[in-house]
Amino acid sequence: MVDGKRFAAKRLQKFKASEIRELLKLTEGKDIISLAGGLPDPQIFDVEDLAEIAREVILEKGDKALQYSPTLGVTTFREELREFTRSHGIKVKDTDDIIVTTGSQEALYLIGRVFIDPGDIVIVEEPTYLAALNVFRQYDANLIGIPIDHDGMRVDLLEEKLVELDAKGLRPKIVYSVPTAQNPSGVTMTNDRRKKLLKLAEEYDFLVVEDDPYSFFLFEEEKFDYLKTLDPNGRVLYVSTFSKIMAPGLRLGWVVADKSIIALLELAKQAVDLHTATLPQYIAEEALKRGVVRKTLGKAKKLYAKKRNAMLEALKDEMSDLATWIEPIGGFFTMVFLNDRSIDTSELLLKALERGVAYVPGKSFFVNPDKGKHSMRLNFSYPSEEQIREGVRRIAATVRAAMVEARAS
Ligand SMILES: Cc1ncc(COP(=O)(O)O)c(C=O)c1O
Repeated sequence: MVDGKRFAAKRLQKFKASEIRELLKLTEGKDIISLAGGLPDPQIFDVEDLAEIAREVILEKGDKALQYSPTLGVTTFREELREFTRSHGIKVKDTDDIIVTTGSQEALYLIGRVFIDPGDIVIVEEPTYLAALNVFRQYDANLIGIPIDHDGMRVDLLEEKLVELDAKGLRPKIVYSVPTAQNPSGVTMTNDRRKKLLKLAEEYDFLVVEDDPYSFFLFEEEKFDYLKTLDPNGRVLYVSTFSKIMAPGLRLGWVVADKSIIALLELAKQAVDLHTATLPQYIAEEALKRGVVRKTLGKAKKLYAKKRNAMLEALKDEMSDLATWIEPIGGFFTMVFLNDRSIDTSELLLKALERGVAYVPGKSFFVNPDKGKHSMRLNFSYPSEEQIREGVRRIAATVRAAMVEARAS
């Protein structure tokens, strides 16, 4: 048999399968409570309305909906998206400032493809979204992590880093942020920090990627402006997705940016997939027009708020003496930091799986994995409230057992 690897391009050496993903794969089909994933609860999928829309779209607009379509996205869908995005508080000048992507993951991939040369500096929050790190690594970015606290990215430390780089004649090309209800930590950046970040972008001449899947699920009143809305000179690329507000299986995302940037993304996308699948765009357009997305959001917000509360209560009951955590005002996740910093949560995962619970070890979310060794990300959007409580109880039991074992040895 031919060994495919023999023919692989050199760049493939950088494509590393995540060990954690491999480990979690083994748990599929087993009786394990998973607090690991980032899936929406399927209860929020509006199957009746979507089935009706899909049928109508195919029968009545099949000539267009089943056809090839423009790389930028179906124009009428982009017009609906423009209005939806505006109504959510994000500044969009016009329809041509939008490109539709195959999930927001493709948007991140295209951004990497268009802007990152090997060695270019990309600054990220630490911790940050794992799959964004993977994209930037595939493009050989020089990654720098800036810590977060309860108010989001430590923009003061970003400034220190920029001064330090500047002294060496270096500047970042991109600062990537998930400023609202962040994945993995759940924190939201304050408005002062948002303004400061954009001021620094002007001063040090870099682009800002605002990755925003979760601002639609805020459980508490929080006053802030989107980076894109605060952006005076078109430095911000706003990225969002239908994955959490409607259904990830549609694979629809979008970018709002200055036309000069959209044109570059369009150029790169032509070679990747010609265009995002046409049919889901027509379905999503109708779903926006008929208020299905708003309905789904209303349902999802209530459901996720209850689950977030269940998670916070369980943590308080089971882990107050073992860890600290961030209380998210929105999104799908919280991050737990163990008091005992000698525990490596990657090693602990095997024991947690034996006790029937899974989480994502914190290491994966850090540029420097050692910094995240004693942390873990917990998801509350997918498991039931009962599973959340039982899952946290099992994690607490696993941590306690590890501490006893460490003392004994
Ligand atoms: C911060 C962030 N960005 C991007 C994505 C990618 O989502 P999708 O490709 O489904 O739009 C996710 C998914 O969980 C995410 O959490």
